[in-house]
Amino acid sequence: MSENSVFKTDKRIKLGVWGLGRGAYLVHQAKFLNIDVVAGCDIHPDMRECFAKNTPGAFVTADEDEFLAQDFDAVLIATYFKDHAKHTIKALNAGKHVMCEVTAFHTPADGVKVVEAVEKSGKVYNLLENYPFTKENMYIRDLWQKGFFGEFMYGEASYLHECRVLSYAYNTGLDGLPIEPGYHAHNWRSTLNTHYYNTHSLGPIMNITGLRPVAVSATPCDVYLPGYLGKKGTVTPSIIKMNNGALMRNLMGCTTNDYHMELRMWGTKASVEKINDLKIRVGACGGGEMLKIAPEISELQKLADQAGHGGGDFWELYYFAREILTGEPAPWNIYSAADVTLTGIMAVHSSLKDGEMVEVPDFRNKAVRDQYRNDDVYYGNAFDPENIFPEGHDPSLTGQFSELMTKLYPKSNGSGLPTYNMAYDGMKIFDNIADAEGKLRIISRVSRLIECLPTLADAIKTARKIADAYPESLPGKMLYDVLDSVDCEKICNVEQTTAELRTWLENRHKI
Ligand SMILES: NC(=O)c1ccc[n+]([C@@H]2O[C@H](COP(=O)([O-])OP(=O)(O)OC[C@H]3O[C@@H](n4cnc5c(N)ncnc54)[C@H](O)[C@@H]3O)[C@@H](O)[C@H]2O)c1
Repeated sequence: MSENSVFKTDKRIKLGVWGLGRGAYLVHQAKFLNIDVVAGCDIHPDMRECFAKNTPGAFVTADEDEFLAQDFDAVLIATYFKDHAKHTIKALNAGKHVMCEVTAFHTPADGVKVVEAVEKSGKVYNLLENYPFTKENMYIRDLWQKGFFGEFMYGEASYLHECRVLSYAYNTGLDGLPIEPGYHAHNWRSTLNTHYYNTHSLGPIMNITGLRPVAVSATPCDVYLPGYLGKKGTVTPSIIKMNNGALMRNLMGCTTNDYHMELRMWGTKASVEKINDLKIRVGACGGGEMLKIAPEISELQKLADQAGHGGGDFWELYYFAREILTGEPAPWNIYSAADVTLTGIMAVHSSLKDGEMVEVPDFRNKAVRDQYRNDDVYYGNAFDPENIFPEGHDPSLTGQFSELMTKLYPKSNGSGLPTYNMAYDGMKIFDNIADAEGKLRIISRVSRLIECLPTLADAIKTARKIADAYPESLPGKMLYDVLDSVDCEKICNVEQTTAELRTWLENRHKI
């Protein structure tokens, strides 16, 4: 497919990107969708530099007012999670259409403000919820809307994403560096209660069925992974009631087995699951035929397949551009954006009441909105990510903290503690690994551990130094938990451990 061929019009949309991490990555296919990226804004110099290099000719600034004063039609907002509402309103007031990363707002009061700003502006607003637009989810939606599955009874969807390093670094590059200057922990990811980040799992079920959530119940889990500050590294499941009386289990959080795009849905006539393969069970009974499905691929889908998140990143730009160019409504307008966002917020409210069912308000109704106008409390983890060390701390030591966390838990998992754990746990169950390929993967993890052991040993020593200097601080307590979770003596005794690992490897080669 050639440039400019997706929409049958020469009209183009001039776009400014606000927040140049995810934002800059998302627009890779914009040119195919009549979108020209003409401006970018980020407070971080490295992000601006990278954007300027990849987008020659675009205007780049750190100043949001200067940015919004430029001549462009629409803004992609991918700034910090907690600033989405504020930035959406500011962009609408500057006369721009808005597409905003998830979620739409973080308190009900901000939600009321955003809904009313969109209504007043007459501009297009889309939430950038991409997970409903994988080719499998688009296929399921199509069949669901034709009535193939009957009425939705029950569903399970998960967005489990354990990535400790993102609590301490930006989501760029293999090791997630750099972080915003001045911070020791990430602005919002370090404090986020993952109920708030609920759209990647609830979103597909809403989009496929066309139903809206009306109530939610969430009981808190009290078990945590080490390496997160405060009460963060845990799971946040909730049970959601939909407006037809059906239920779904929505699971987010951080634990030891990630699931990003998995989904199971039961209708009254058939059921579907996308775990690895897409499968449909037909027969309108429990034990009917289970069929593996290969969705047909359109020309547009071939283009979408080149985008991130299973093609979802393409489709969300496509729908936004289509609405601006043709007036045809996109799936995630401000009201469905409010439905999905409020369900996460109300799940947090429910978990504070130990699982009491909490109503999800419908912000289409002004009288309902009036009840939430002043509800402006955000229940993140209770600490300030800019100030996690006690006053008077020694920056020559604490300045090493966020980089230390990227060494202990690198985004790539190719070194640090994940490699240590994979190697040692893999060795424990090695003889019972069923396939040669699995065994080879453990052998290569052990070889990798030998390479990175000296760096890991240094990181363990630095972690101990920081923890001992600030034992009562949040990072001090967190680092002690991390140190307790592994055999530090083994890691730091580099020579002996390396010899042990080499012997293990040699014995494997003899087999
Ligand atoms: N839909 C998805 O699949 C998906 C994936 C990743 C991130 N996200 C969302 O995208 C958003 C951005 O995520 P990210 O991964 O880029 O991480 P991030 O939140 O760390 O980065 C935001 C970027 O915005 C910049 N920024 C913050 N405040 C700013 C301001 N006032 N003016 C200019 N720039 C500012 C930061 O310097 C940073 O480069 C988040 O809200 C996240 O929820 C969505």
